[in-house]
Amino acid sequence: MSDWAEGYLVDIGYTFGYYSELNPLRARLAMLKSGYAMPKIATACELGFGQGLSINMHAAASDIEWYGTDFNPSHTAFAGELAATGTGANLYDQAFIEFCNRTDLPEFDYIGLHGIWSWISAQNRDVIIDFLRRKLKVGGLCYISYNTYPGWATVAPLRHLLNEHADTMSPRGIGILPRIDAALKFVESLLDANPLYARAHPGAAERLKSLRNQDRNYLAGEYFNDHWDPMYFSDVADLLSSAKLNYLASASYRDHVDALNLSDQQQALLRDIPDPMFRETVRDFIVNQQFRRDYWIRGGRALPAANQIDLLRQEHVVLTSPREDVQLEVTGTRGKATLNEDVYTPFLDAVADGKVKTLGDIEEAMKSAGKNFSQVLQAAVVLVGKGDMAPAQDEAATAAVTSRTDALNAHLLSLTRAGRGLNYLDSPVLGGAVAVSYIQQLLLLAHQQGLKKTDERIRWAWDVFNSHGRRITREGRTIEGQDEALAEFTREAKRLQDKSEPVLKSLGIL
Ligand SMILES: C[S@@+](CC[C@H](N)C(=O)[O-])C[C@H]1O[C@@H](n2cnc3c(N)ncnc32)[C@H](O)[C@@H]1O
Repeated sequence: MSDWAEGYLVDIGYTFGYYSELNPLRARLAMLKSGYAMPKIATACELGFGQGLSINMHAAASDIEWYGTDFNPSHTAFAGELAATGTGANLYDQAFIEFCNRTDLPEFDYIGLHGIWSWISAQNRDVIIDFLRRKLKVGGLCYISYNTYPGWATVAPLRHLLNEHADTMSPRGIGILPRIDAALKFVESLLDANPLYARAHPGAAERLKSLRNQDRNYLAGEYFNDHWDPMYFSDVADLLSSAKLNYLASASYRDHVDALNLSDQQQALLRDIPDPMFRETVRDFIVNQQFRRDYWIRGGRALPAANQIDLLRQEHVVLTSPREDVQLEVTGTRGKATLNEDVYTPFLDAVADGKVKTLGDIEEAMKSAGKNFSQVLQAAVVLVGKGDMAPAQDEAATAAVTSRTDALNAHLLSLTRAGRGLNYLDSPVLGGAVAVSYIQQLLLLAHQQGLKKTDERIRWAWDVFNSHGRRITREGRTIEGQDEALAEFTREAKRLQDKSEPVLKSLGIL
C-alpha cells in the first residue's frame, strides 16, 4: 500500500462515473420545494472527485468557479487532462487534510462529496466537518452520499468476510483483482456449506451472486477498502450539526413523492412522528435504505409561501428523453406505479418540442386541461426523478458556456475515437452531463468526419469499434459475428437519428 493512501485502496483506478446529484443546478428544485431560497452558487468544491468527470462537466457547463481535490495522482492527472480543455476547474491532488487547510481557498456556496463519507477514516470525516464549518458560507448547500442502515445490515458481514479473506489469505503481491476473485470464490464455498448466517439472512447468497457480475473497480472500492462505515442517518445528522448543517431533502427526486414509496399506513405512521430527524430514521427502516444521497443547508433563508410558488414557477426544465419514449409509469420502493394520463399527457405535450420551459409556462399550457400548479410541480419532480426531464439553465446562461462544453465534448469524443469512451457528453443547457453510449459517440464522430451516407458512417464507426477489440453484448450474450454486429450498429444509427439527435440538439450538445 502507498503510504499517502491512509488505508484507502489505490491499487486500481476508480470508475469513470458522472453524478448529476453533484450538479448545484439540480439542487435548486429540491431547495425551493422544501421552502428555502436557493443561494447564488458562485463558488463550489468537490472533495474526492475520482476521475473528475463530474467536477469538469459542472465547471465547463456553468459560471461556477469549481475547486476540488483527489489524492490519487492518476485520478487527478486524468481529471487535469479534461480540465486542460478549458473547463476552468481548479484541481489538486492533495489529501483532504492538506487541501482543507489551504489558506488560498475561497469560501464556498456549495460543497459536494459523492462516494466518500463511508469509505474514509473517522479522522478524515472530522477534517471534512471542520472544513464545512469554516468554509461553507452561511446559507450554503452541501451534498453528501453515504452507505446506511438498515439496508446494509444483511450484507455488512459478507463485506467483512470478503475483506478479511483478501487481507489474510491472498498475498498483496498478486494484485487486487485476483484477491477479489479468490475472496468471492471462498465466500461462495462458505455459503454452499449452508452456514446458519445464510439461513438467517436469505438475501446474502443472492447478493453474492450479483457481485460476481459487478465492475471489479467498483467492487474494489466498495468491498476491499480498509475503511467502510455505513452510518445511521441520525449519526450523520449529529456529526454535521457541529458544522451547523441541517438536513434539507433527499437529492433523489423519486424520494420526494411519498405515494411512490410508502403505503397509506406507513405515511400515517410517519405523520405521527413530530421529530423530523427521527422521521427520516423510521423512513429508512420502511424502505430498507442502503445508500442515502442528501442535501444539507447551513441556515437557509425560509421563503414565505407565496414567494416560494413564484420562484418555483420560474424554475426551468427540459425533456431529456424523446417525448414518445417517456413511459407513463415509474418505479418506486413500492414497485411500479402508473402515472395519471390526465396530468402527464398535457404536461408532456407542453414540453414535447424539446425547448427549455419554466414550470410557469407549463402551468399556463395546462390551464385549458384544468390542471393546477401543484400537479405541474409533482409531475416535474416525478419526471426528473425517473430521468426523463432535468432542471435547465436559461438561454443566456447556456450561451455563455457553450464554447467550453464544445471544447470538452470534442476532447471526450477524441477519447472515444482512441478507444476510451466515457459514455457522457456535457450539456450547456443542463449545466452538466448526459449519458451518450460509446457506439452513438462513434456514429456522431463519423458524422463530424464528413461522412454523408448512413452506411458509410456505420461502417466507419464499426471499424473503429472493432479495431479496439470491443464487442457488443446483448442480453448477456457477446455478439461475435460481423453481420450481427453491423445490424446492431444500424439499429443504433437509426435510434441516434430518430431519437437521440433531437434531444442532443435541445441539450445544446449538437
Ligand atoms: C469511491 S471514490 C469516489 C470518487 C467520485 N466522487 C465518484 O463518485 O466517482 C473515492 C475517491 O476519494 C479519493 N480519496 C479517498 N480518501 C481521500 C483523502 N483522504 N484525500 C483525498 N482524496 C481521497 C479516492 O482517491 C477516490 O478517488
